Amino acid sequence: MSHFLYRAGVLHAEDVPVPAIIAETDSPVYIYSATSFRQRYRAFALGLTGLDHLVCYAVKANSNQAILRLLADQGAGFDVVSGGEYARVRAAGARGDAIVFSGVGKTGTELRQALSGGVRHVNVESEPELELLNDVAAGLGCVAPASLRVNPDVDAATHEKISTGRAGDKFGIPLARVPAVFAHAQSLTHVEMHGIAVHIGSQITSLEPFAAAWQKIAALAGELRASGLPVTRLDLGGGLGVAYRPGEPVPAISDFCDLIKRLFGASDFTIEIEPGRNIAAESGILVASVILEKTIPQTRLLVLDAGMNDFARPSLYDAHHTVMPVIAKEADLPNQTVDIVGPVCESADRFGRRRPLPPLDPGDLVAFSMAGAYGAVMASEYNSRPLVAEALVDGDQLCVIRPRATIDTMIARDIIPPWM
Ligand code: LLP
Repeated sequence: MSHFLYRAGVLHAEDVPVPAIIAETDSPVYIYSATSFRQRYRAFALGLTGLDHLVCYAVKANSNQAILRLLADQGAGFDVVSGGEYARVRAAGARGDAIVFSGVGKTGTELRQALSGGVRHVNVESEPELELLNDVAAGLGCVAPASLRVNPDVDAATHEKISTGRAGDKFGIPLARVPAVFAHAQSLTHVEMHGIAVHIGSQITSLEPFAAAWQKIAALAGELRASGLPVTRLDLGGGLGVAYRPGEPVPAISDFCDLIKRLFGASDFTIEIEPGRNIAAESGILVASVILEKTIPQTRLLVLDAGMNDFARPSLYDAHHTVMPVIAKEADLPNQTVDIVGPVCESADRFGRRRPLPPLDPGDLVAFSMAGAYGAVMASEYNSRPLVAEALVDGDQLCVIRPRATIDTMIARDIIPPWM
């Protein structure tokens, strides 16, 4: 259920009217619903009841520490892909043994950071990384907990840029190599093997690719065990898609979890999953205000104060996000068709074409739905636009969880060399 609904014609985040939030932060701002984050996390956790499991929220989807704290308080684990994400999760209060470290290019420094701070396991993605992990652990005098990320060569049938499980994608170790690499890993003195991991892509809108990948993982795990190798944990990845267009058919969280139970319910593996988007997307909106409307041949353009630097998904993946007015206009006002653009100096800075919207005036607010995942985390300061603000609502409580950066702090980071 959405936690962003109209009440008396005004869009609310839970119990707080959106205009009241804008009065505190100005626009653009990402607004999150704490209740939504909790409910969606719990739907995964409840869905796996009966299995020994850990839901490791994929931090990359939304890494604000308030969100991480909220999820840690629910008992979530975390999937991180950089030293920065690792440090954020720890700063938010999560335990090291709840953190899985994934990623195709972890540096020695990052591995050292995770091993010294504590980590549930490192998902090793290549043979050189395995050697590096062993060396780093030896240097620290510890044993590194590890799993191998398998590339199962399964097409997730998603956007080209977010597909990760085909043989030609850069991720994981080719399935056929895994038995040999696992056996070698087992012989290393500073690595302790726990299992295998897979993640085939993001915004996956059918269960078939998951089933195909997980069946391969089940067979591989059986094969490894049969040759005496210790496989206790199966990390099944994230990737469950969401309906960016109202009514778009996507599997429910419960169907995703039921498939896992069907495939692994009779086994004694510890199951880990790494959902990001499915927890965060629906839990957030981006609110922007109208700067002006202008007309170019055949098209009316609505120019917003949010740009592709604040919200990259439409320009990067041609992603669809529904745009709605924060104050609903009277029903008898006919919609007009507009292209929605930002102020950034690129033609890619376009959020939507031919969208039906009521007439809007400068200063009117609009909201992008389903913007809680891969929104704020992908924002930049391109065009020297200060990093976007974020606010969290919980019932009738409101907190600005990241104030907008100021122009002064933004430019103060640069250093003009003393010889100039
Ligand atoms: N685990 C690993 C190892 C991943 O690489 C990812 C996402 C996830 C879990 C979480 O996947 P999710 O449940 O969120 O689909 N910026 C893109 C999405 C990139 C996803 C990258 N990896 C977008 O805005 O669509």
